[in-house]
Amino acid sequence: MELRVQQASVSEIDTPLLVVSVFQDETQPGGAASAVDAALGGRISRLIAAGEITGEPATVSVIHTEGSQALRAQRVAVVGLGRQASLELEDVRVASALVARKARDLKVDSFATVVHHTGGSGVPMEDAARATMESSILALYRYEQFKEATKSRHEVSSCTIVEPDADRVRAFEQMADLARITCEAVIKVRDLSVGPANFVTPTYLAEQAREVAQKYGLEIVVWGKDELRAHGMNAILAVNQGSVQPPAFVAIKYVAPGATRTLAVVGKGITFDSGGISLKPPEGMEYMRHDMTGAATALGFVQLAAAGKLPVSVLGVFAATENLPSGAAYKPGDVFKAYNGKTMEIVNTDAEGRVILSDSLAYAAEQKPDAIVDFATLTGACRVALGDHATGLMSNNQALADQLLAAGERSGDRCWQLPLWKVYGEQIKTAMADVRNTGGRAAGAITAGLFLKEFVGDVPWVHLDIAGTAYADSDQTYVAPYNPKPGATGVGVRLLWHFCQAWKDA
Ligand code: BES
Ligand code: MN
Ligand code: ZN
Repeated sequence: MELRVQQASVSEIDTPLLVVSVFQDETQPGGAASAVDAALGGRISRLIAAGEITGEPATVSVIHTEGSQALRAQRVAVVGLGRQASLELEDVRVASALVARKARDLKVDSFATVVHHTGGSGVPMEDAARATMESSILALYRYEQFKEATKSRHEVSSCTIVEPDADRVRAFEQMADLARITCEAVIKVRDLSVGPANFVTPTYLAEQAREVAQKYGLEIVVWGKDELRAHGMNAILAVNQGSVQPPAFVAIKYVAPGATRTLAVVGKGITFDSGGISLKPPEGMEYMRHDMTGAATALGFVQLAAAGKLPVSVLGVFAATENLPSGAAYKPGDVFKAYNGKTMEIVNTDAEGRVILSDSLAYAAEQKPDAIVDFATLTGACRVALGDHATGLMSNNQALADQLLAAGERSGDRCWQLPLWKVYGEQIKTAMADVRNTGGRAAGAITAGLFLKEFVGDVPWVHLDIAGTAYADSDQTYVAPYNPKPGATGVGVRLLWHFCQAWKDA
């Protein structure tokens, strides 16, 4: 869907569907809704008085403007934002997503929307504008690559942001550029994440990275089995042993002109996780095609950084392989030496994410970035602890952790911190090696984080466990309307963008 910005008043704009919003505590519509109300001879006010338009969050009423002289729009959608005093950016995201889906249901070719008015609320105008733009686009995302029968379903072709003020129009146009490339990156992550494992193979992920590198002129390193052997990346090779698909290790770098800081983004790239010899039960195993979402996030963010000329250099690193059982597969009890020389005992081959991340994190740390952030669908335990609405955050540096937590609030990709206290480390000690790859059921997300910590040296690092937030299945109780259900969310891309904006000059 195309995103446009047009300088016009709500009465001038010629559109099949014009979107305005109201608050729950209003008896009279405010802002753009008040102008539309006047043009419609008080119809919105009357519907409010009749209790038909309530302004409650996630409600939409559609009014046909038939015969109205003062309005060129054919329909008006009035969307509820909830109470003005407690307005949060998330209410704007949800409202924008709902009306975009309404437009698709109504089978209109395009719609126009105001930036949901934030006067009187604590939500800054720029944030509201980006939220309106991004949610409108992201709400209409569908993955239909392999669905022949629905190829002809209705798609909305454009969304226009209407704004009468010339200065704001200029600001919104810049924001629209950013919103477009942000959504492109989020959608790339979603497509890669949801793509079936027989299609999104390690080789495919490496090709995708090569395409990004070529398009934006980025430095890239792609290693296969021989290079992994030569460089002592034995942990990646261990997980790959049971798979017929060759592994791939990718490091791709966007160098920002004049930047002083470099962020390394590392991702888990298990293109399918069967558990290996410690085989998973069949129920829900198909979701393990998403187990490369961390790698997709690293690549998606490098793309966004390059497309958006981010003032921070970004190094994306991921290792990709399947985790499958076979006569050649790695086994419980095996011991391997990772890239940084540390040894690990494998206790459970289903704790494979941390195994491949060990080499990737050690490689990233060796490049001496100013910080490392990793993304991984790492533990079912994190999902049990935080559910589907918060990414688990762990860190060796509280200042960095705080900055990511703040970016989480602002971007909507919310994170919640778990402690990496030394005492939990007792659970991953072993007589056989420097560390073992599981620490029992208790505090499973934390012991996984402590395992990773062994491989980052003293580089400030944040680990983000996205096992609960990377995708929504069809029985998830609440899925925000800007996310697909079922499908992948693309969580993390907007988080890092907001983080880098603050971090670049911190
Ligand atoms: N990829 C899984 C984690 C996962 C589970 C992500 C459910 C999303 C939804 C990971 O590789 C895994 O299997 N972790 C094990 C670790 C255990 C063996 C210590 C887990 O969480 O059970
Ligand atoms: Mn696993
Ligand atoms: Zn896994």
